[in-house]
This record gives sequence, structure tokens and C-alpha cells, in this order.
Amino acid sequence: MIPPRKSVGEVTPYPLNPGTRRDKIRLDLNESAWGCSPKVLEALRRIERMDVSTYPVYHDFLSQIAAQKNLPPENIMITNGADDAIRILMQTYIEPGDEVVVAEPSFGMITLQARIAGATLRPVRYGSDLAFPVEGFRAVLNSKTRLLAIVRPDSPTGGRIRRADLIDLLREAPQAVVMLDETYWHFCGESCVDLLAEYPNLVILQSFSKAYGLAGMRLGMVFAAAESIAEYRKVNPPFSVNALAMQAGMAALADQAYLEEVLQAVETEKAYLAERMNSLGLETRTSPANFVLAHIGAEADRVHTALMAQNIFVKNLSSQPPLEGWFRITAGTRRENDILLNALKEILS
Ligand SMILES: Cc1ncc(COP(=O)(O)O)c(C=O)c1O
Repeated sequence: MIPPRKSVGEVTPYPLNPGTRRDKIRLDLNESAWGCSPKVLEALRRIERMDVSTYPVYHDFLSQIAAQKNLPPENIMITNGADDAIRILMQTYIEPGDEVVVAEPSFGMITLQARIAGATLRPVRYGSDLAFPVEGFRAVLNSKTRLLAIVRPDSPTGGRIRRADLIDLLREAPQAVVMLDETYWHFCGESCVDLLAEYPNLVILQSFSKAYGLAGMRLGMVFAAAESIAEYRKVNPPFSVNALAMQAGMAALADQAYLEEVLQAVETEKAYLAERMNSLGLETRTSPANFVLAHIGAEADRVHTALMAQNIFVKNLSSQPPLEGWFRITAGTRRENDILLNALKEILS
């Protein structure tokens, strides 16, 4: 084998569960249990042969996003999922040795892409209260800091940096890019897109994978200063979002009523999961995103394996301090949640 670049050879790939999804209850990926809007499928059915045989044109989609976000199209780029947006930002900004500050634990793709780009990581550990470690971020800032990665609200911790703290960091590190990942913003209803006008070092990522239920389509968005977006466009392949994903995204954005329904269902099911798990004697934390954390304790690995044996998947956070013994459980449909709760009851008894 021809060896890869050193930084590629050194990373471990993002873990994926092997096998098919058939008959599995997947509450480990923070997907939408309710699926996409029916209007998305209608839009996909309207696709014509020439839509498939020609390269996609993003003009109308960008205008639609621009109108909804109240931003000029020059401040927007669409990407092949938020995952790819993270890769593009790391490739755009990071020279080997540049420092990237990231909360620990946080979303795995951030550290993976930072490492591949050659960054020196400055992980800042969450405390046991799971409040966003803003003081820790402040403490590691120095002249080599090139990028601060902040997920708001965060997964897997469910932390959410206070808006005032975010603004302080934007001011205190004007030489660094603040990459704000708002993949889960819909679930708490608070985005920081309005801050872009004031802070040229702010870059915001959003995704269509969660509240819009389009994870299979791979669609994300980046919002930043126009000059920054022009640089990212050099790194993002010109047609990285395919024609079907684009149509799906347009239909999803237009169906606000369906989005509201899903957000309401997620709230209801998070509360249900938390209440039922509390009655099983488990401590829980309800995130501002689409999941609940449950404390299983020393038995976490055994319980996780026993659930998997029943084709029920949740995320075991035991290898991610300070979340040892905790599970992250995505809000599922009532049927899925009940299957999980019944299995948990049986395994814990
Ligand atoms: C914090 C965070 N950012 C980004 C992503 C990836 O989003 P996408 O599916 O748009 O690539 C995820 C997926 O779980 C995530 O949790």
C-alpha cells in the first residue's frame, strides 16, 4: 500500500454500525423518527429526466434560503451535509500546527477533520455539570489559535453556550474563526445567524438532517461573510449538492407547518422518555436538541449490549468523560420509545 499523508494515517475513521437497518430501532443517530415532509416526496416525484441528466443550478434554492434567513445569497453556501461543511472549513483555514479549540466530548467529525487538516487540537473538557466550558476555551486561546469549534446546542452533552459567552469569545479571539455548528438549532429555536453582520470571524453551519428529516439526502448550509464564502467555494466542489437533495431541501424549507409538527412531537417524546426513565429510577437530562441523556451507571456496557441484542440502538457515551455511564437516546416515535423503555425495564430488573 502507498502510505497516506501522516495525518490521515493517524486518525481512526468515524464509527458506523455495520449491517442493514432492517428491523432495527435506531435511537443512536439523532435522526428524525418522523421522516421528511410528504411535500419532499411530492417534489422528488416531480423530478424530470433533464433534472437528472444536467448539473444542478442552485440559484433558486439559494434565493429561498436567503429570504428565509434574511441574508444575501453571497453569504450562503450549500454543502453535502454539515459534515462536509466541517471538512471545507478545516481545509480552508488550517495550516499544519494551527490550533483548533474544541469541547470534549463533542461531535466526532470536528476532531477528525481538524486532525486530517494537520491541526493541533486543544480539547477543553466539559465539567460534570455539562455547562459549556467557556472558561476553558478562554484559558487556551493564544496567538496560534486558528479555529474555535462550538456546537450549539451540543451533542452529545446537550450543553448550550450562552449567547453572551459566544459574543465574548468572538470578541476575544478576533484572529480566529469561530465555527458555530447549529445542526440542532431548530429544537431550541435560537439561532445566532443575526450575529454574522457584526462578527466577520463567525461562521455558522446548519443541517437538513435533523428537524427536516433529510439525513439520507445529505444537505447542509454555511453562513458567513461574503468574502469567506468566496474562499469556501474554492474548496467545495462546484456541484457537491445533487439535484434531488436540492429539490428535497426546497420542499422541506417551504413546509413550515410540518416542521412545527415535528418539533412539537420531539418535545413531547423527550418529556415522555425522561419521565418514564425517571420512573425506572434512572437520572435523566433533557437536551435542548432532539435527545435525552440517561444515566445507566456501571452497568452501561452490559445494558447497551443487551439492547443491541434486541436490535435496539442507543449511543453509549461511556468512553466519553464526563459522560461515563450515560446513554444518549434520540427522541423516537411513541412506538419506538415504548419498545426501548420495555426492554430497558426488563434488562434492569
Ligand atoms: C453536531 C453535529 N454536526 C453535524 C452533524 C452532521 O450533519 P449532516 O448530516 O448534515 O452531515 C451531526 C450529525 O449527527 C451533528 O451531530
